[in-house]
Amino acid sequence: MEQFIIRGGNPLVGEVDISGAKNAALGILPAAIMTEDTVRITNLPDVRDINVMLEAMSQIGVKVERVSRHEALITADQVTDVSVDYEFIKKIRASYYLLGALLGKFKRAEVPLPGGCNIGSRPIDLHLKGFRAMGAQVTIKNGVIIAEAKQLHGAHIYLDTVSVGATINIMMAAAMADGRTIIENCAREPHVVDVANFLNSMGANIKGAGTDVIRIRGVEKLHATDYPIIPDQIEAGTFMFAAAATKGDIMVRNVIPKHLEATTAKLLEMGCEVEEFDSAVRVVASKRLTNTNVKTLPYPGFPTDMQPQIGVALSMAEGTSIVTESIFENRFKYIDELARMGGTAKVEGNTAIITGVSKLTGARVSALDLRAGAALVIAGLAAEGITIIDDIKYILRGYENFDEKLRSLGAEIQMIQNEKEEQQFRLRVI
Ligand code: EPZ
Repeated sequence: MEQFIIRGGNPLVGEVDISGAKNAALGILPAAIMTEDTVRITNLPDVRDINVMLEAMSQIGVKVERVSRHEALITADQVTDVSVDYEFIKKIRASYYLLGALLGKFKRAEVPLPGGCNIGSRPIDLHLKGFRAMGAQVTIKNGVIIAEAKQLHGAHIYLDTVSVGATINIMMAAAMADGRTIIENCAREPHVVDVANFLNSMGANIKGAGTDVIRIRGVEKLHATDYPIIPDQIEAGTFMFAAAATKGDIMVRNVIPKHLEATTAKLLEMGCEVEEFDSAVRVVASKRLTNTNVKTLPYPGFPTDMQPQIGVALSMAEGTSIVTESIFENRFKYIDELARMGGTAKVEGNTAIITGVSKLTGARVSALDLRAGAALVIAGLAAEGITIIDDIKYILRGYENFDEKLRSLGAEIQMIQNEKEEQQFRLRVI
């Protein structure tokens, strides 16, 4: 089973290029099947979640040509099936975006209900509420969501909770519904805007993405487009916190600084220097970080997907910090793993009280979900000694060439498959 092994202590120094945004691509790829023309998508991140989504699309008859690791041609002129296989939804919840795309285009879709997830129960009731409001009959039979409509019509939908997935899924279905749909209390994340821009580049009529009200006028047909995915703000933020935690000095390139404002604000509060350029940010941490408090919120608030990363950085900061997780109910599992490295934090409900320690020490830990895993890599990079991280399959779902990019910044990190490779690493770094 793949693991990461890390010898901590090296400050990260140098430049790193950020890949395309996984969470934008996971919405854009399904949306590409809403036209029969060939769609070219570039700046795709080469990560497991994307590869699984492309497999799920091929399985229903979509022609997928992977021109390169970062480019795909999608042609959905011969979709044979609107029923997505359970194995895909089990691997990635975001397969549920195929619901909105297939319902919008073919007025029928069958997608297994996504199960729970490591970070919370994550219901999709708001997605289904939106489809029903547009006239779809939505039933759940043997664990499969069956959504169908003679014709979808525009509706005025209010999302009880700000939901990225529901906003994107409803927007897709509404893009080809009859008439006008208004979605209130929308998610405003950059990846929501990217999916809207992608659909508009195919001829959709979507206004207001990035605000909390999106207005969609349905169109008959969507056409070809050639579209680059935006940079991944969460991958960028992860590297920014890795620099902060290792007292490094890195230039994070291919980013949209505006998308990183909440992360930048927190790094400044914690004593880092952050310099913004047109499409890059530089993070310098010359001294020990200082404590701060943070609460995760929908965009433009501090992202929940950056909560484990800031939690790890604060575990080494001077003073006590309070981290409040307001989006998911079970996103502090990394705290127990961090305790094995000397981290001291107390979790009470959706709040973690973190008392900074002067140093962490290497240990054997497990990645329990994607962002918790990435945060433990940051802990290993900063810790004294050797850290081995198990279950890195979670990390590989959302970070392209993570170890390679970190090595280019001076990190001593290796992906290993067995004891022999572990010994070779230990001998090399002592
Ligand atoms: C997306 O998940 C992201 N995943 C998550 O990133 C991210 O953490 C999350 O948005 C919040 O930003 C993708 O984009 C593929 P939500 P999503 O719907 O859409 C509740 C990562 O690390 N809710 O915005 O599933 C839900 O339980 C992943 O890349 C309902 O109650 O998140 C949660 O408490 C992890 N009913 C809150 O809304 C619904 O129908 C926000 O969830 C839908 C959501």
